[in-house]
Amino acid sequence: MTSNALESQGPPEQALTSESEPQDLVWLDELTPSQIVSELDKYIIGQDDAKKAVAIVLRNRWRRQRVEEEMRHEIAPNNLILIGPTGVGKTEIARRLAGLAGAPFLKVEASKFTEVGYVGRDVESMIRDLVDISINLVRADREYEVQETAGKRAEERILELLLPVSNPDPEPPTGDERPHIFVAGPTGVAEEQEEGVLERRQRTREKLRKLLIDGKLEDREIEIEVSQAPNIEGMMIPVGGGDGLDHNFTEMLQDMLPKKTKRRTVSVSEARRILLQDELDKLVDMDEVVNEALYRAEEMGIVFLDEIDKVVGLRGGQGPDVSREGVQRDLLPIVEGSTVSTKYGLVRTDHILFIAAGAFHVAKPSDMIPELQGRFPVRVELQSLGEEDFVRILQEPKNALLEQYRAMIETEGAKIEFTDDAIAEIARIATELNERLENIGARRLQTVMTTLLEEVLFKLPEAGTDAIHVDPAFVQDRLARISEDEDLIRYIL
Ligand SMILES: Nc1ncnc2c1ncn2[C@@H]1O[C@H](COP(=O)(O)OP(=O)(O)OP(=O)(O)O)[C@@H](O)[C@H]1O
Ligand SMILES: [Mg+2]
Repeated sequence: MTSNALESQGPPEQALTSESEPQDLVWLDELTPSQIVSELDKYIIGQDDAKKAVAIVLRNRWRRQRVEEEMRHEIAPNNLILIGPTGVGKTEIARRLAGLAGAPFLKVEASKFTEVGYVGRDVESMIRDLVDISINLVRADREYEVQETAGKRAEERILELLLPVSNPDPEPPTGDERPHIFVAGPTGVAEEQEEGVLERRQRTREKLRKLLIDGKLEDREIEIEVSQAPNIEGMMIPVGGGDGLDHNFTEMLQDMLPKKTKRRTVSVSEARRILLQDELDKLVDMDEVVNEALYRAEEMGIVFLDEIDKVVGLRGGQGPDVSREGVQRDLLPIVEGSTVSTKYGLVRTDHILFIAAGAFHVAKPSDMIPELQGRFPVRVELQSLGEEDFVRILQEPKNALLEQYRAMIETEGAKIEFTDDAIAEIARIATELNERLENIGARRLQTVMTTLLEEVLFKLPEAGTDAIHVDPAFVQDRLARISEDEDLIRYIL
């Protein structure tokens, strides 16, 4: 397991929600600053200044939207810059903030943009990406609301396919699952059969339904009709970019061309997945989704501009610094408030919150072009993390590392316990490694933990269900040897 795999960064460009299912919408902006801070406290240790700053900035957006119009235009958006070394919680704070209440959240590396006219992504693409994320978010919400109905409808359709109405006297489906229930009733008197047919069908259907629900028919094959997106790959698409307009153009074409359907033989479980999606698509009103998504992107959207310092050169520079300045200039209108055209419609960026982050080891915020400095008036520094922070980070957050390992080990029927002095020892070693090698902040805990528990994780489940007891001796035994070896340490910890 690499340290990356464990990073709780989730899918790269999505906000972390504490529940996987959409919550009732607490509008993020309706939380007061102190409520926001206490929510953030559940996941992030320390960094009080940063938490406070994001809470104020967010609340200011809410306030700005409520002052009367004339004044509103006078109040500049309150974006902020998080300054701090790697692995101290900059991304985590922004992501959790968005996750608090289903705000569309986009994280982009500022360094991936290049100046207009150069090859690379144009800055407006981040607003289009934010809208895409918002659409997915709202659609997921709406699908969740109709999940049950869609499930029932999909089930009916599968039953229909297993026992078509058009076939009055069904051949009993063949297969290994209790064929006897499909045996047709006694054949005999004609009129009796007439009447019995419907009833029998109904009975058979109910029995089928039961088998279906019990998961006994999952592997049976049925033929379903699936719609296919028209293939435009071979068609002429204007060369270049692949971004922005061209991309919109491709999708537009896809929507315009008639959808082809194709019959396919699939297993019941596959059919359920396909039909469920089909029913969801029918039940969710996409126009409404688009409206809501545009609204949420505009009013609640958060764009996290990572590595902003990489587009800040030392002032008065030449060569690459000039093009960096160009990127800053391109960012200006978006951050200030402008209208960006997306495939779902126009989006105003006035209220979108921009949170920039960077280490600013070389360039300083004051090296940014003055106009951009004015748009990021709030600057807050995050502290580098020490031994005491690590002790807390290991165990206090809702998603604390030790809890994650406990949960994983429990899946094998075993248990793991960490004594307090073992936790202190882990924190001490992590701090020492950060000092000796490179300070990678809380990420160090990930590498230390994987090394510490490698044997344990390898030996389960064969090692049995005895409780695994982690005390300082255990930690010393696994880590001290490596941490004393200058060569090993660089590769392992
Ligand atoms: N103060 C903290 N409290 C709890 N966990 C933290 C804290 N700081 C960092 N972490 C954990 O460390 C990992 C990295 O943090 P994060 O992604 O926020 O770093 P960053 O400050 O954005 O660094 P970079 O500049 O490298 O992007 C995350 O998994 C996060 O959960
Ligand atoms: Mg980060």
